[in-house]
Amino acid sequence: MAKATIRDIEISSKRVLVRVDFNVPLDEETGVITDDSRIRATLPTIRYLTSRGARVILCSHLGRPKGKVVEKLRLATVAQRLSQILGQPVKVTKDCVGSEVERVAAGLKPGGVLLLENIRFHPEEEKNDAAFAQGLASLADLYVNDAFGTCHRAHASVVGITNYLPAVAGLLLEKEIKTLGSILENPAHPFAALLGGAKVGDKISMIENIISKVDYILVGGGMAATFLKAESYETGQSLVEGDKLKVAVGLLEKASRNGVCLLLPVDVVIAGEISPEAKGETVSIEDIPRDKRIVDIGPKTIRIFQKSLLKCKTVFWNGPMGIYETPQFAAGTKTLARVLANLDATIVIGGGSTAEVIIEMGLADKMSFVSTGGGASLDFLSGKALPGIEALPDRES
Ligand code: 3PG
Repeated sequence: MAKATIRDIEISSKRVLVRVDFNVPLDEETGVITDDSRIRATLPTIRYLTSRGARVILCSHLGRPKGKVVEKLRLATVAQRLSQILGQPVKVTKDCVGSEVERVAAGLKPGGVLLLENIRFHPEEEKNDAAFAQGLASLADLYVNDAFGTCHRAHASVVGITNYLPAVAGLLLEKEIKTLGSILENPAHPFAALLGGAKVGDKISMIENIISKVDYILVGGGMAATFLKAESYETGQSLVEGDKLKVAVGLLEKASRNGVCLLLPVDVVIAGEISPEAKGETVSIEDIPRDKRIVDIGPKTIRIFQKSLLKCKTVFWNGPMGIYETPQFAAGTKTLARVLANLDATIVIGGGSTAEVIIEMGLADKMSFVSTGGGASLDFLSGKALPGIEALPDRES
């Protein structure tokens, strides 16, 4: 059932605490934000609220400071970037609870925006501590969850707080639930899942959940090595999850029972090392030498995957096809990204590194939807209940 959203409630002049996911990537040396799409994705909610005279108190985590203040994980630069994009000042506090924060929050004018300091500087956040959640709740009259990327975490600002304030979903959260929900419930066929990334272990429950809904599963990236090993190929130095070999065999059998076309690479790019100077070599999967590792899918595989994708009306993509950060091993990922960009189909991109590639290539607006959730979108597509979504009331209640 659909969740109640900010459209369902009266918000004028209310103090609204909005949980957002401003966990944006930062340049390790300079601390500059390298991709602000998570900030931009919350603009519809923030603008909806400010234009109706709400006083907006934003709250987010950044990184994993483990309950301590970590200077380089302060949210001041995020507030600056938000202020630029929003075209209005965004106040920022030095903490997220306490008397000073209460004073600033109480002084917010209608249409004003405040960003609280990194919520994970307090260990109580990840413990879903009731008193901490109550302290946050005391800053506002209403709670809005617009942090899809964090909804798989049962934390105080995601779950606990809903015990103390009327709670609804923001517009981004609503869109994520609708889009990811519709590819699970009602996808146009043929439907393909294009899967890559390092580990099969992260994706098992998702594959199990979608195997009865898709027509194709195309496997590339590091996780292909475990499938190839399960089919008794030599995989050299590639990372193989030994404890997942049986699961991989089970998935291959299940796909065949369900009439799903599960395709593995037929050729791969291999290299002895992963470095900016490393040279790749394309070989058939029968010829992977013991001293090399798989770093990308090969050109034949790209063509085979492309042929299947061209037939599809829905595609969900999660996980790069190779070590795309090294340009000479990025061909599989980048070629298929371009194929998807030109497809007349519903294309949904999972968050995390897949979203990064699409944004970096400037292809985001060619896709139907780029999810802001990495782990959250995987859990959602695995059919798991996300605590942050569960904690929100349904529209009719
Ligand atoms: C993410 O980047 O996936 C979310 O912000 C959640 O972050 P976390 O994995 O540190 O909880």
